[in-house]
Amino acid sequence: MLGAAGLAAAETAVRTPAFFEPVAEPAGMILDYGSLLVATCLGIFIVVMGLLIFTIIRFRASSADDGLEPPQVYGSDQLELAWTIVPVLLVVVLGLVTAGRIVAIQRDTAPEGSLSVRVVGHQWWWELEYPGYGFTTANELHLPVDRTAFLELESQDVIHSFWLPQLSGKTDLIPNRRNVLWIEPKETGMVVGQCAEYCGTQHAHMLLRVFVHEPDEFERWAQEQQRQARTAPGVEEGRALFARTACVNCHTVRGVSEIGRFGPDLTHLMSRTTLAAGAATNDRANLVDWITDPNHIKPGARMPAMKLSEREIGLVAGYLASLD
Ligand code: CUA
Repeated sequence: MLGAAGLAAAETAVRTPAFFEPVAEPAGMILDYGSLLVATCLGIFIVVMGLLIFTIIRFRASSADDGLEPPQVYGSDQLELAWTIVPVLLVVVLGLVTAGRIVAIQRDTAPEGSLSVRVVGHQWWWELEYPGYGFTTANELHLPVDRTAFLELESQDVIHSFWLPQLSGKTDLIPNRRNVLWIEPKETGMVVGQCAEYCGTQHAHMLLRVFVHEPDEFERWAQEQQRQARTAPGVEEGRALFARTACVNCHTVRGVSEIGRFGPDLTHLMSRTTLAAGAATNDRANLVDWITDPNHIKPGARMPAMKLSEREIGLVAGYLASLD
């Protein structure tokens, strides 16, 4: 399952070139298509190079100059027809296959019964909104297996690129434009992705995780996300401090303050495994580090150090660590 052990296992698995192990469409279709093109070109290469090498060896100049010369062929109808028709057929067949794949992969409208997700790129994190469920989360996308997810991609600031090698190809997130992408996961588990377009200092720390669940497990996760933030016993002081500092200008915690849109929604912060778009493990010690000085974990991060006292940081981190 998706516990800490699964995560560690997945993190080791990530080191293989992920696009060779698709676990969703259209990644599988893209790999098939790429393999067909490579195999065809490899076949042509082997034939042409084979003939070339054979000719070089068979008809090389010898010191004795035995006058061995290949037969001089002019205007052979068979040869000329062959090297015209074969390439034309190759181009037509590959062209038709390409057109078919483009039609299958590019979809402008959401298919019937699909899950809709709005993805907004920010410097340097991912906003993930589930309009059908009415909540927003960040940096960790949850999807049900065997159901198409239809993603709308937008950007808040500069051009980013949404790339999940095991699930789909790359699609850019462009300011003032809406791009779309669909994914149909075929296996449960966790896969990783990455912003694939240089978007500033922390482009490399704009990571994305996707958790693919069984449908009922996904519904349970979504219902948990729909809840308002709870206030656990003993964190009231941290909650009050959070609510009266500038934290709430950027962060929404549903049930506390919903004006902040600039930073990630923190309503269920502890349901996420990582902090700062994959830059650190999401635990209390890293939360303290992050609030004390975001630049320590992520130099250039848009979040300022709030200049709170050590005690206040402890209180705020304690409150955030209670938001499950
Ligand atoms: Cu966002 Cu690179």
